[in-house]
Amino acid sequence: MKAVAIIPAAGVGTRMRTTSPKQFLSLAGVPILVHTLRKFSRCPSVGMAIVPMRKSDIASFEPVLEKEGLLGFARLVPGGIHRQDSVYSGFQEVDPQTEVVVVHDAVRPFVALESIDAVIAEAYSSGAAILAIPCTDTLKQIDKTHVVTTLPRDKIVLVQTPQAFRYSLLKEGFERAQAENFYATDESCLVERLGHPVTVLRGSETNIKITKPADLPLAEFLIR
Ligand code: C5P
Repeated sequence: MKAVAIIPAAGVGTRMRTTSPKQFLSLAGVPILVHTLRKFSRCPSVGMAIVPMRKSDIASFEPVLEKEGLLGFARLVPGGIHRQDSVYSGFQEVDPQTEVVVVHDAVRPFVALESIDAVIAEAYSSGAAILAIPCTDTLKQIDKTHVVTTLPRDKIVLVQTPQAFRYSLLKEGFERAQAENFYATDESCLVERLGHPVTVLRGSETNIKITKPADLPLAEFLIR
């Protein structure tokens, strides 16, 4: 059975300082989200994508999906206030018979097909897998303006998406988080809280998250 992808795209993108949220900014003539969806639609281990989106964006994005021939692959559903709400709203649309769910930021269009397949394969065998890259900068914990301590860089990684999970495990993670009103910035954290091990696979420096204005020239370069 193929995995179901959840691709949250309901962010407002305040950090980008543009009128359009970052997932709808054009890259080589099409919205960033289209690049991401094209990638997933070409992935042999993914059967369909559920895309949480702001209600006001759904009507305008549907014709774009149709033009791209992606209407059969991707389903648009309403997102929520926080990223976690959006992913959960997508998760509720997943067929409970699904074995593995893979979550990926709409704004990471440069993910490699092999990485998507690798996290999914690992989730089938161990239950949970994420991508991460080593941290090359020195990391310090601070207290507003002053250093509290220097963190051990060799024990820290920078986490990316896709992240893949066994359906039942992610369901339990969401349910526990909801019961405890806990919010995280990724889905792995919800599964970690259950005490379940999460396998870390090597991500890529080019799997960037297009978030800040400075990311756009880099994205233009990478698309070429
Ligand atoms: O805000 P953040 O950088 O974590 O966003 C990562 C992804 O989550 C983006 O693709 C964004 O559109 C999505 N998101 C969402 N719903 C929100 C906030 C963010 O789907 N309420």
